[in-house]
Amino acid sequence: MKRVYNFSAGPAVLPEEVLREAADEMLDYKGCGMSVMEMSHRSKAFAEIIETAEQDLRDLMGIPDNYKVLFLQGGASQQFAMIPMNLMKNKVADYIVTGQWAKKAAAEASKYGKVNKIASSEDKTFSYIPDCSDLPVDEDADYVYICENNTIYGTKFKELPNTKGKTLVADVSSCFLSEPVDVTKYGLIYGGVQKNVGPAGVVIAIIREDLITEDVLPGTPTMLTYKTHADAGSLYNTPPAYGIYICGKVFKWLKKMGGLEVMKERNEKKAKLLYDYLDQSKLFKGTVEKKDRSLMNVPFVTGSDELDAKFVKEAKEAGLENLKGHRTVGGMRASIYNAMPYEGVEALVAFMKKFEEENL
Ligand SMILES: Cc1ncc(COP(=O)(O)O)c(C=O)c1O
Repeated sequence: MKRVYNFSAGPAVLPEEVLREAADEMLDYKGCGMSVMEMSHRSKAFAEIIETAEQDLRDLMGIPDNYKVLFLQGGASQQFAMIPMNLMKNKVADYIVTGQWAKKAAAEASKYGKVNKIASSEDKTFSYIPDCSDLPVDEDADYVYICENNTIYGTKFKELPNTKGKTLVADVSSCFLSEPVDVTKYGLIYGGVQKNVGPAGVVIAIIREDLITEDVLPGTPTMLTYKTHADAGSLYNTPPAYGIYICGKVFKWLKKMGGLEVMKERNEKKAKLLYDYLDQSKLFKGTVEKKDRSLMNVPFVTGSDELDAKFVKEAKEAGLENLKGHRTVGGMRASIYNAMPYEGVEALVAFMKKFEEENL
C-alpha cells in the first residue's frame, strides 16, 4: 500500500485512523450486517450516527443551545444563494471581499438584493485582510459576510470584523475546526467539509435559532430553506449519510487528540515550520502579508513559472502531492489541514531545501 503526503486544498487529507476504522466497518457496521452506505437514514443505527456526530461537534466548538447544527448538501457554493434567500429580509447585505469565494458569494447574493462591498483586498491580488474595525456597515444590512479563511490566497481573518451589531455570516470551509471559535460572535457559520472535516458532499451550517424563519424570499425552494432542515433534524430528505458518518469519526478523532485548543497548537507548529523556512529562503517566497497568514493554506512562488512547474513535478515524484497552486494564481500552495502530520510538513521543507540547493 502506498500513502503520500497529500497537500490538496480539498478534497483533502483525512486522518489515517479514521480511514482505517471506516475500512474495518465497511462491510458490517457494528454487527448490523451492512455498510453505513447501505443503511436507511431512518434506521436506529443511523439515528445514533447523526445524533452522536452533532453532539461531538457541539462539544468541540462549544455550540450554545440556541444554535442549530444542520448537515446539508449542495456544497459551500449553494450557501452563496441559500444565505440571501433566507436572511435578506431588508434585501441589503454587506460583503467583505477577500478572495474568489467571497466574490462569488457576493455576486450570487446580488441576484436577491442590494449587495454593498464594504471592504476588499482585490487591489493587491487578495494578499491581505483589510482593516475591518470601522467599516461603513449599512444601517439596513441584514448581515455582514466574510470568508474567514481564503483557501486560494492563504489569508485568514485574525480578528473578526466589527459588524456594528449586524449579524455576522462566515464561510469557514477551509478553517473549520482548526482552532477554537466563539460561536456566539456569529449568526451563521458554515463550511463544506471536504477540506478539514470529511468527504465532499456535506455542508455543515451552524445557525442561530432566531435566523431560522419561514419568512424567506418569495420563491425560495423548500430544500433551500433552513427551517425545513432545522425542523427535520437534517432528515427532511435523504442526507449525505456516509459523509456524515465520516465527519462523526473525524469529530471523535479531534476529541481524542485533545480538542480544538490542541489542534490550534499543532497547526501553529506545522505552519511555523513552513513559514520560517519561506522567510529565509532565497528561492521561494510566501505571497501574503505576514500578519494575515493562514494556518491552513500556504501559497508560495519561485518567481519563475518553469521552476514552479519543475518543483511540483519533482515533489510529486518524491511523494509530496497536490502542491500546484490554484489555477487562477499559479505557483504552489501547500494545504496543511488538521490531518496533515507534522512529519508531512518536515518532509516538504526538507524537499524544498534540497530543491533550492539544486536550482538556485
Ligand atoms: C472558502 C471556500 N468557500 C467555498 C468553496 C466552494 O466549495 P464547494 O465546492 O463545496 O461549493 C471553497 C472550495 O474550495 C472554499 O475554499
